[in-house]
Amino acid sequence: MMQIQIINGPNLNLLGVREPEIYGNFSFEEYFSQLATQYPTIRFSYFQSNIEGEIIDKIHETGMTFDGIILNAGAYTHTSVAIHDAIKAVAAPVIEVHISNVYARESFRHQSLLAAACKGVIAGFGLGSYQLAVEALRMKNEE
Ligand code: DQA
Repeated sequence: MMQIQIINGPNLNLLGVREPEIYGNFSFEEYFSQLATQYPTIRFSYFQSNIEGEIIDKIHETGMTFDGIILNAGAYTHTSVAIHDAIKAVAAPVIEVHISNVYARESFRHQSLLAAACKGVIAGFGLGSYQLAVEALRMKNEE
Protein backbone atom coordinates (compact mmCIF):
# COMPACT_ATOMS: atom_id res chain seq x y z
CA MET A 1 0.00 0.00 0.00
CA MET A 2 1.34 3.42 -0.95
CA GLN A 3 2.09 5.60 2.09
CA ILE A 4 1.95 9.39 1.90
CA GLN A 5 2.79 11.84 4.69
CA ILE A 6 1.12 15.26 4.57
CA ILE A 7 2.89 17.96 6.60
CA ASN A 8 1.42 21.39 7.23
CA GLY A 9 3.48 24.15 8.76
CA PRO A 10 2.77 27.29 10.79
CA ASN A 11 -0.72 28.81 10.98
CA LEU A 12 -2.24 26.07 8.85
CA ASN A 13 -3.96 24.73 11.99
CA LEU A 14 -6.22 27.78 11.53
CA LEU A 15 -7.52 26.78 8.09
CA GLY A 16 -11.20 27.59 7.79
CA VAL A 17 -10.82 30.47 10.25
CA ARG A 18 -7.70 32.25 9.02
CA GLU A 19 -8.16 34.75 6.14
CA PRO A 20 -10.98 32.68 4.55
CA GLU A 21 -10.95 34.87 1.41
CA ILE A 22 -7.46 33.46 0.71
CA TYR A 23 -7.48 30.04 2.37
CA GLY A 24 -11.18 29.05 2.22
CA ASN A 25 -13.72 27.91 4.80
CA PHE A 26 -12.68 24.30 5.26
CA SER A 27 -10.58 22.99 8.13
CA PHE A 28 -7.76 20.73 7.00
CA GLU A 29 -9.16 17.85 9.07
CA GLU A 30 -12.41 17.95 7.01
CA TYR A 31 -10.46 17.99 3.76
CA PHE A 32 -8.11 15.25 4.96
CA SER A 33 -10.92 12.80 5.68
CA GLN A 34 -12.42 13.49 2.21
CA LEU A 35 -9.05 12.86 0.59
CA ALA A 36 -8.53 9.60 2.50
CA THR A 37 -12.01 8.40 1.41
CA GLN A 38 -11.25 9.34 -2.19
CA TYR A 39 -8.05 7.26 -2.27
CA PRO A 40 -8.83 4.09 -0.31
CA THR A 41 -5.70 2.36 -1.61
CA ILE A 42 -3.34 4.99 -0.17
CA ARG A 43 -2.40 5.17 3.51
CA PHE A 44 -2.26 8.86 4.49
CA SER A 45 -0.77 10.34 7.63
CA TYR A 46 -1.24 13.96 8.62
CA PHE A 47 0.95 16.16 10.80
CA GLN A 48 0.77 19.88 11.52
CA SER A 49 3.19 21.97 13.53
CA ASN A 50 3.96 25.62 14.08
CA ILE A 51 7.51 24.69 15.05
CA GLU A 52 10.28 24.44 12.45
CA GLY A 53 12.23 21.70 14.29
CA GLU A 54 9.14 19.49 14.58
CA ILE A 55 8.57 19.74 10.82
CA ILE A 56 12.20 18.70 10.28
CA ASP A 57 11.80 15.77 12.71
CA LYS A 58 8.71 14.56 10.82
CA ILE A 59 10.56 14.75 7.49
CA HIS A 60 13.37 12.63 9.00
CA GLU A 61 10.92 10.19 10.60
CA THR A 62 8.92 9.44 7.44
CA GLY A 63 11.33 10.37 4.66
CA MET A 64 13.11 7.01 4.52
CA THR A 65 10.06 4.73 4.60
CA PHE A 66 7.10 6.58 3.05
CA ASP A 67 6.51 6.77 -0.71
CA GLY A 68 6.17 10.53 -0.66
CA ILE A 69 5.70 13.66 1.41
CA ILE A 70 3.33 16.51 0.60
CA LEU A 71 4.67 19.59 2.36
CA ASN A 72 3.02 22.95 2.89
CA ALA A 73 5.65 24.63 5.03
CA GLY A 74 3.64 27.88 5.21
CA ALA A 75 5.86 30.90 5.79
CA TYR A 76 8.90 28.67 6.45
CA THR A 77 8.86 28.07 2.68
CA HIS A 78 10.31 31.53 2.28
CA THR A 79 12.87 31.39 5.10
CA SER A 80 14.06 27.91 6.03
CA VAL A 81 17.45 26.60 4.92
CA ALA A 82 17.05 23.92 7.62
CA ILE A 83 13.88 22.49 6.02
CA HIS A 84 15.60 22.62 2.60
CA ASP A 85 18.44 20.51 4.04
CA ALA A 86 16.00 18.04 5.66
CA ILE A 87 14.24 17.49 2.30
CA LYS A 88 17.61 16.83 0.67
CA ALA A 89 18.57 14.39 3.42
CA VAL A 90 15.70 11.94 2.81
CA ALA A 91 14.91 9.52 0.01
CA ALA A 92 11.17 10.13 -0.38
CA PRO A 93 10.07 12.59 -3.06
CA VAL A 94 8.72 15.78 -1.49
CA ILE A 95 6.09 17.90 -3.27
CA GLU A 96 5.85 21.53 -2.12
CA VAL A 97 2.26 22.73 -2.07
CA HIS A 98 0.50 26.01 -1.44
CA ILE A 99 -3.19 26.69 -1.17
CA SER A 100 -2.86 30.21 -2.55
CA ASN A 101 -1.04 31.32 -5.68
CA VAL A 102 2.00 32.71 -3.89
CA TYR A 103 3.17 34.43 -7.11
CA ALA A 104 0.03 36.58 -7.18
CA ARG A 105 0.71 37.82 -3.63
CA GLU A 106 3.38 39.89 -1.81
CA SER A 107 6.86 39.69 -3.31
CA PHE A 108 8.30 38.06 -0.15
CA ARG A 109 6.20 35.00 -1.03
CA HIS A 110 7.70 34.71 -4.52
CA GLN A 111 10.87 33.06 -3.30
CA SER A 112 10.88 29.48 -2.05
CA LEU A 113 13.97 28.18 -0.28
CA LEU A 114 12.47 24.69 -0.51
CA ALA A 115 11.50 24.34 -4.17
CA ALA A 116 14.95 23.40 -5.44
CA ALA A 117 15.11 20.49 -2.99
CA CYS A 118 11.61 19.26 -3.93
CA LYS A 119 10.42 17.05 -6.76
CA GLY A 120 8.04 19.83 -7.82
CA VAL A 121 5.75 22.61 -6.68
CA ILE A 122 1.95 22.99 -6.86
CA ALA A 123 0.39 26.31 -5.86
CA GLY A 124 -2.85 28.19 -6.25
CA PHE A 125 -5.54 25.50 -6.45
CA GLY A 126 -6.97 25.91 -2.97
CA LEU A 127 -7.08 22.67 -1.00
CA GLY A 128 -7.13 20.96 -4.40
CA SER A 129 -3.35 21.58 -4.47
CA TYR A 130 -3.01 18.62 -2.08
CA GLN A 131 -5.00 16.32 -4.36
CA LEU A 132 -2.88 17.37 -7.34
CA ALA A 133 0.19 16.50 -5.28
CA VAL A 134 -1.28 13.06 -4.53
CA GLU A 135 -1.73 12.56 -8.29
CA ALA A 136 1.88 13.64 -8.89
CA LEU A 137 3.13 11.11 -6.32
CA ARG A 138 0.98 8.34 -7.83
CA MET A 139 2.46 9.05 -11.27
CA LYS A 140 5.93 9.04 -9.74
CA ASN A 141 5.24 5.75 -7.92
CA GLU A 142 4.22 4.05 -11.20
CA GLU A 143 7.39 5.14 -13.04
C1 DQA B 1 0.90 29.23 2.06
C2 DQA B 1 1.53 30.48 1.45
C3 DQA B 1 2.58 31.06 2.38
O1 DQA B 1 3.17 32.21 1.81
C4 DQA B 1 1.93 31.45 3.70
O2 DQA B 1 2.91 31.93 4.60
C5 DQA B 1 1.13 30.36 4.31
C6 DQA B 1 0.31 29.52 3.44
C7 DQA B 1 -0.25 28.68 1.18
O3 DQA B 1 -0.62 27.52 1.40
O4 DQA B 1 -0.79 29.38 0.34
O5 DQA B 1 1.11 30.18 5.52
O6 DQA B 1 1.88 28.22 2.16
